[in-house]
Amino acid sequence: MYEAFYGLKEKPFSIQPDPDFLFFGFRHSMAYAMLEYGIQNKAGFSVICGEIGCGKTTLVRHLLNNLGSDINVGIVYNTHQDIDDLLSWIMLAFEQPYEGLSNVALFDAFQRFLIERYSQGKRVVLIVDEAQNLSAGALESLRMLSNINVDKDQLLQIVLVGQPQLRDLLRRPELTQFYQRVAVDFFIPPLQPFEVVKYINHRLQIAGREDKLFSPAAAKLIAQASGGVPRSINILCDMVMVYGFSSGASVIGLKIVKEVLKDRAEYGVLA
Ligand SMILES: Nc1ncnc2c1ncn2[C@@H]1O[C@H](COP(=O)(O)OP(=O)(O)O)[C@@H](O)[C@H]1O
Ligand SMILES: [Mg+2]
Repeated sequence: MYEAFYGLKEKPFSIQPDPDFLFFGFRHSMAYAMLEYGIQNKAGFSVICGEIGCGKTTLVRHLLNNLGSDINVGIVYNTHQDIDDLLSWIMLAFEQPYEGLSNVALFDAFQRFLIERYSQGKRVVLIVDEAQNLSAGALESLRMLSNINVDKDQLLQIVLVGQPQLRDLLRRPELTQFYQRVAVDFFIPPLQPFEVVKYINHRLQIAGREDKLFSPAAAKLIAQASGGVPRSINILCDMVMVYGFSSGASVIGLKIVKEVLKDRAEYGVLA
């Protein structure tokens, strides 16, 4: 809609977790370094938590694109599953056959898959997104999978990604054994206000905009209204640009942001 008007090749503020738009805020850089560290050092479990919309899935997708060919990665997104289904989803994540197999057969097939990769000199990393939805039983079965080994070498590394409830879940007394195996445990909070300004400019630049589009005051108000949560920043910025385009504004000033916030408070469903 407004892309051509603002000199953009594509929409800069989509809410898809597109790694091409990834902005490395301070905590995102740290989280990424921790994930890389965990994988390099063969950590059994790594845990990354954060509120909804803070960039967890985007970061994981970036990781996926940047791991070497010696590492086999599978991602499970669909975690509203009971334990039995989980194994099927894991097989699917690694493009392995799973249909019509009993739970025992699935476990066996997965174990054989791990051993085969190991013998090829490849490592296997399983990423479970939205892991806060897993039951304690499902976590326990993940722990069992991570126990599979050959000559003391663990064959599977697991990265759990989820909302803050994941931490509460892992701290339950019955999961002590599990928690002790977690080597990397990191939290991604919302962006700091000064980072929000950079974040907005970064996304605009990736989308093809050369010159500044948002005034400093406009970006500051967006930082405040969004609480620094990237997903909320995107929704707000998109709306602000629609308003800007509709009124023929060549740059986005404070007035437009205020207008959007006022309308949202009065009529919006998201207010
Ligand atoms: N660091 C970041 N850089 C660029 N975009 C981000 C960043 N963090 C979040 N986003 C954007 O915010 C939205 C929500 O991000 P997502 O990764 O789905 O969050 P989460 O998985 O934590 O709920 C997506 O549009 C995503 O591209
Ligand atoms: Mg996510």
